[in-house]
Amino acid sequence: MRLVSTRSCKPGAKLGKPIYNEVGQVLLGKDVELTERLLHRLEEYGVHYFYIEDPLTEDVVIEGVLSDDLRREATQTVRSEFRKLMNDTLKTTKSVNPPDLANSFRPLIHSVIDELTQTSQAMIMLTDMHVTDHYLYQHSLNVCLYATQLGMSYGYNRNDLYMLSLGALMHDIGKTKISRELLLKPGKLTADEYEEVKKHAEIGFDILRGMPNIPLLSAHCAFQHHERLDGSGYPRGLKGEDIHDFARWVGIVDVFDAMTTHRVYRKAMLPHEAVDILYAGSMDHFDRDKLSWFRDKIAIYPLGIEVTLSTGEIGVVVDLNANIPHRPIVRIVELEESGPIAVPYEVDLSKKLSVMITDVNRSKLLGNQRR
Ligand SMILES: [Fe+2]
Repeated sequence: MRLVSTRSCKPGAKLGKPIYNEVGQVLLGKDVELTERLLHRLEEYGVHYFYIEDPLTEDVVIEGVLSDDLRREATQTVRSEFRKLMNDTLKTTKSVNPPDLANSFRPLIHSVIDELTQTSQAMIMLTDMHVTDHYLYQHSLNVCLYATQLGMSYGYNRNDLYMLSLGALMHDIGKTKISRELLLKPGKLTADEYEEVKKHAEIGFDILRGMPNIPLLSAHCAFQHHERLDGSGYPRGLKGEDIHDFARWVGIVDVFDAMTTHRVYRKAMLPHEAVDILYAGSMDHFDRDKLSWFRDKIAIYPLGIEVTLSTGEIGVVVDLNANIPHRPIVRIVELEESGPIAVPYEVDLSKKLSVMITDVNRSKLLGNQRR
């Protein structure tokens, strides 16, 4: 299996993994042959990367982050609970009959923690491809999965993990009270519009604070996830130690997921590009220790992605080193100078520290030059 961008994929390729719709059901099944029309539709839906079958890497099997059943349940629960809040026409948080989110999300969070405990793989979120009718649902779930995996590896106990995971799932819940047109507006927001969107942090906090059984620290993930260490964030311009650890984790993975997911105003970046950008702003904005922890845990070069090495070799990531996921094992299939090679071989980048990944998706052989 190999990861390709929708733009570079040639018609005739077969899907290596299903693509799911907004309620977690299969939209396009494994082995479906992609036509020009389907590729176009996928691009419109915002699916910019997916896995295809590929003879050079047919032994590479990519597991989803969650089991199919739990993924479906999680998608549906997040969607239906968030929609209830959106449909509550009161624009304030003083709903007469607020939904009991803790009750709906508690079993889900515990199942997520249990499942993630079983997997030892590096964090890859590109494995589960979805189309969604609202960016907010998928983003909330992704941020929850990233934060939970990070908190787990960081050694949080079950109770802390629960509070972090729940807070991450609901960090943007205030956006259910911001107009959909504004949230999905293509192009740059005006100053006034930006001020309006920024209100979601405080609105989210108010919603959660008024609900039964929501830990205050989870509510603070909503309140503080846009605060930055240098005080440049919002809504309160908190600095350093005043920003809780949970909100610092959520702040990092929120930005990372936003960059690696397709948005109306921007194409999705690949993980390594997003990590570079996070690092560029890390001195002032993010907790450097947490950012390094994150970089060391996430597969910035996911399984199946095509990479160019500093040696001029071009290949596909076929395995990850659990402890150093950014130095994977690459199956070389082509040389920059001379083209395809007869017998592919593998290079373990964790053992060849002088060799760097210099580019991704450049090969002609692997079919990355369609348009
Ligand atoms: Fe936010």
